[in-house]
Amino acid sequence: MLSAERVIVMPPLLGCAYYPEHWPTERWATDAALMREAGLQVVRLAEFAWDRMEPQPGHYDFGWLEQAITTLSDAGLQIVLCTPTATPPPWLTHTHPDICRVTLDGTRVSPGARRQACASVPAYQEAALRITEQMVRHFGEHPAVIGWQVDNEFGVGETTRCYCDHCRRAFQDWLAERYGSLDALNAAWGTQFWSMTYHDWRHIPIPGITNEPQSPSMRLDYRRFSSDNWRRFLRQQIALLRQYAPGRWITHNFMIRHWSLDYWQLAQELDFVSYDNYPHGLSDPCEVALNLDLMWSLKRRPFWVMEQQPGPVNWHPQRPPVPAGQVRVWTHQAIAHGAEAVVYFRFRAGRFGQEQYHTGLLKWDATPDQGYHEAQAVAADLARLPDLTRPASRVGIVFDYHDLWSIELEPVQRDFRYWDLVLALYRVFWEANVPVDFLPRGCDPTGYDTLIVPAAILIHPGEADTWREWAMRGGRLIVTFRSGVREPSNIATETPLPGGGLSEVLGVRVQSFSAVPAPDFHEWPEHRPGTRLQSVSGAEVLTYHRWAEALAPTTAEPLYRYQDGLLAGQVAITRQRLGSGEAIYLGCWPTDFGALFRQQGWLTPDPARLERVLLQGGDGAQWRVTLNHSLQPADGLGGLDVRFERLP
Ligand code: GAL
Repeated sequence: MLSAERVIVMPPLLGCAYYPEHWPTERWATDAALMREAGLQVVRLAEFAWDRMEPQPGHYDFGWLEQAITTLSDAGLQIVLCTPTATPPPWLTHTHPDICRVTLDGTRVSPGARRQACASVPAYQEAALRITEQMVRHFGEHPAVIGWQVDNEFGVGETTRCYCDHCRRAFQDWLAERYGSLDALNAAWGTQFWSMTYHDWRHIPIPGITNEPQSPSMRLDYRRFSSDNWRRFLRQQIALLRQYAPGRWITHNFMIRHWSLDYWQLAQELDFVSYDNYPHGLSDPCEVALNLDLMWSLKRRPFWVMEQQPGPVNWHPQRPPVPAGQVRVWTHQAIAHGAEAVVYFRFRAGRFGQEQYHTGLLKWDATPDQGYHEAQAVAADLARLPDLTRPASRVGIVFDYHDLWSIELEPVQRDFRYWDLVLALYRVFWEANVPVDFLPRGCDPTGYDTLIVPAAILIHPGEADTWREWAMRGGRLIVTFRSGVREPSNIATETPLPGGGLSEVLGVRVQSFSAVPAPDFHEWPEHRPGTRLQSVSGAEVLTYHRWAEALAPTTAEPLYRYQDGLLAGQVAITRQRLGSGEAIYLGCWPTDFGALFRQQGWLTPDPARLERVLLQGGDGAQWRVTLNHSLQPADGLGGLDVRFERLP
């Protein structure tokens, strides 16, 4: 059996989400046999079955689930159980309508979908803990149950933040705890602006519809509070699971491209992170890889793909097709980036409910769909491989939800998105097949050669010194524009930019910063910062967009200057030598970060133009996984194909 202590589980497990409550009991054994034939070993159950387990308040029925577990485990499948708290049943929302969330405009959402509940409402908290306790008391030590998923996808569909009166009070209490006194809060937020000084915690508002924006400090703290609120909810269930399910691991399924929750913090509560891999929500395989690497990084250990897209999905506005071979490539990409299990969502396409147009491994008529055959192919591939693990990366990219939130609240330039900046920087390495880890703010980069710090807008005291010491020992620190600009409460620093000690580490000061209007912006055409920069040697030219800062080096040397427009002649990029390392400051957002990195020789391009991942074999050898994400054959691989090579 898997246990929470096990750090590397290879070869990876394959599995599926199954809903015994959707199919006649007589069907279960056939389905179990088909799962085994596909090479699946794990099945995830019950995350939306609260109504079946507690049909009336306080009346429990676990018999059907017990029988399903017996049928599935008799076929040789291991069971992952989920707490069902994402779907409060009708009797609960009927008795306590205030369980349903309130949206920003004050509308209470209707029941009838899922994730309608607000984590601050006592009636929901109590009911959620009751069903969790009953469920885990019943199944906690069941020999077939290897681990637990708490709830399902906190925050899916913009549900992290609620604006009800329970949340208002909980937020005010959270602030009292965080700031200690109203004087401290008033000072931290700068409430003298627009006459907002608070003399009573209960007077503090929450975000709502207003004619002009509310305080950016209040809104950032509301995001922090809302993320903490779900973390608290998670922690309460975990306490019960730890008590009644000894030796079983606990996880929660995070999402792609999702940032309403601080996943670094939530991950701390879990034995490992799970993640739902729906590449069709993303731009391309590079963005999928970014998400996978982020999931690995959250606990610096393998993760589970708890839901893998098996074919076209109902929720995509265009439901694009999934060509043959794609599911197999998606699965191997996830494994190559550190997934120790891939669980397909779902076993059979649903015949009722909101997701009928979502593919399963089986079709509505119970015959195998394309995904079934590809899962089977993956199982066959894995059977031929030794244990493979993800080796250490030499490049770290700092990623922080609070920086993202601060910028999302005030992007300044419409197209300035923190996620896009991180993706643009990640892409440089992905295209060169250089593996990357993500690191949280406040990290110690020991063990990495390069640390990339994108728009670290909020100051973390002491962090700049840690980075300097690391760079002195030979590291290359690359910090971008919009770093060290604000205090943690989201007000501007009064130290020169980049603040928080970065100016000294980088040997540079920001003299002025400017949003770069988008090309389709036609007002006052002469009021544009420009578009080009040039290396000091004059040999290389780059273009930039979105953001530009005029730099005044103190001890750093200029690397590039702006070439045209209002900023012509000003310094754009600098380098400061530090011991045997260096600290680079990028004052603008190059349209092609890769070009800058190549011009400076910061990495060597990989001409392969295919994704190649090096893994460490349990047999001591190095292995290379080559993934062709395109339909066009390349490098001896067919379209949408994968190759595994043991390197000499
Ligand atoms: C996930 C969710 C599943 C299912 C799936 C459809 O976000 O966890 O329950 O809805 O999407 O793709």
